[in-house]
Amino acid sequence: MARSSSLAILVIALSAILQATAAQTTHVVGDELGWLVPPGGPIAYSTWAAMQTFTVGDVLVFNFTTGEQDVAMVTREAYETCNSTNPISLQTTGPANLTLDSIREYYFIGTIDQHCSLGQKLAINVSAPGPRPSPVPAPPRGPITYNVGDDLGWLVPPAGPLAYETWAFNKTFLLGDTLVFNFINGTQDVAVVTKEAYETCDTNNTITVLTTSPANITLTTTGEHFFTSTYARHCDLGQKLAINVTASTSTSNPPSSSTEPPSSGSNPVSEGPSAAPPPSLVSSAPSPLIGGFFITLFSLAMAFF
Ligand SMILES: *[C@@H]1O[C@H](CO)[C@@H](O)[C@H](O)[C@H]1NC(C)=O
Ligand SMILES: *[C@@H]1O[C@H](CO)[C@@H](O)[C@H](O)[C@H]1NC(C)=O
Ligand SMILES: *[C@@H]1O[C@H](CO)[C@@H](O)[C@H](O)[C@H]1NC(C)=O
Ligand SMILES: *[C@@H]1O[C@H](CO)[C@@H](O)[C@H](O)[C@H]1NC(C)=O
Ligand SMILES: *[C@@H]1O[C@H](CO)[C@@H](O)[C@H](O)[C@H]1NC(C)=O
Ligand SMILES: *[C@@H]1O[C@H](CO)[C@@H](O)[C@H](O)[C@H]1NC(C)=O
Ligand SMILES: *[C@@H]1O[C@H](CO)[C@@H](O)[C@H](O)[C@H]1NC(C)=O
Ligand SMILES: *[C@@H]1O[C@H](CO)[C@@H](O)[C@H](O)[C@H]1NC(C)=O
Ligand SMILES: *[C@@H]1O[C@H](CO)[C@@H](O)[C@H](O)[C@H]1NC(C)=O
Repeated sequence: MARSSSLAILVIALSAILQATAAQTTHVVGDELGWLVPPGGPIAYSTWAAMQTFTVGDVLVFNFTTGEQDVAMVTREAYETCNSTNPISLQTTGPANLTLDSIREYYFIGTIDQHCSLGQKLAINVSAPGPRPSPVPAPPRGPITYNVGDDLGWLVPPAGPLAYETWAFNKTFLLGDTLVFNFINGTQDVAVVTKEAYETCDTNNTITVLTTSPANITLTTTGEHFFTSTYARHCDLGQKLAINVTASTSTSNPPSSSTEPPSSGSNPVSEGPSAAPPPSLVSSAPSPLIGGFFITLFSLAMAFF
């Protein structure tokens, strides 16, 4: 009786460990875009990379047409200067797969013609295996005032629509936060629109239009909010912003991965004051897990003999 439930615990503990360490993700670089000279410049791959978590054992797939593209692993310096002399390795057949086998930064460039300087370059950070750093639980916080686009302000972004998408993507918008649109009076405006009008850039259909800068909008309802401009073609050229507003309570985080080990000790990682930046996650996360596992194993062994 005691023996079989101990065994059950052992099995559960083991499978938790295996799931946590052996989970291997395949990342297709750029997703549907594939690996090429990105239309929007280097921001395409840096935005893509920022949305991934790379863990030792994961596989990168560079999806490209053989003969039209290639991929070289290079040093940081060569990445920055787009120097394709003496790469660490070069793959000329697409799609090219690469297993990320160590904890470090990896740098990749295309070596054909000016591909690298035109934006075919990727830099990533690979972290230790273990429980995936779940999105850091948002600490309770007061209202934030966001300057839309930061220094860019609110205009037709030189880099195209990705600019405001990139600006918004890692931000949390809570009820009570304020958006400030900064622009030059008479050259821009802010149109609050429906999702449909946002997607089709139909600026005949606006909910509200704000014409003086700074235009402040306090977020008072949850859900998606869409902004663009009534000026001709501004929306088509990328002056558009979509955000998701969540309630200010802590219910905003969906239940994260269920592979939390049944550890007896408390886990300092998930509860810490999360204002601090997360570098410590990488180095400290696996050890309490492994330690807890061996302690469990040891006490099970004691129970048997
Ligand atoms: C997230 O946003 C901050 C500014 O709020 C920025 O400094 C940082 O680079 C962004 N992180 C990613 C991964 O894009
Ligand atoms: C690679 O690109 C081709 C053409 O776009 C696509 O059909 C294929 O599904 C892609 N492969 C992967 C692994 O994404
Ligand atoms: C490119 O790298 C090679 C060797 O890695 C070096 O000899 C060369 O000077 C570099 N070229 C430039 C322009 O930095
Ligand atoms: C590369 O990875 C893709 C996606 O996982 C897989 O379909 C393909 O067989 C792999 N190719 C090689 C040569 O390993
Ligand atoms: C990797 O992470 C380190 C430390 O957080 C950071 O300084 C560096 O810029 C990152 N590199 C890349 C390529 O994201
Ligand atoms: C917006 O209104 C103008 C003038 O009424 C019209 O010419 C144009 O087709 C309309 N645009 C859309 C997307 O409905
Ligand atoms: C825009 O116009 C408003 C109202 O006239 C004024 O208060 C504001 O300072 C102007 N903003 C800029 C950036 O010129
Ligand atoms: C809009 O927000 C800016 C920046 O927080 C602030 O300086 C300004 O007073 C606000 N304007 C109004 C009308 O609330
Ligand atoms: C808002 O969140 C929903 C559900 O997570 C998602 O489907 C949608 O694409 C998000 N919209 C924006 C503008 O980020």
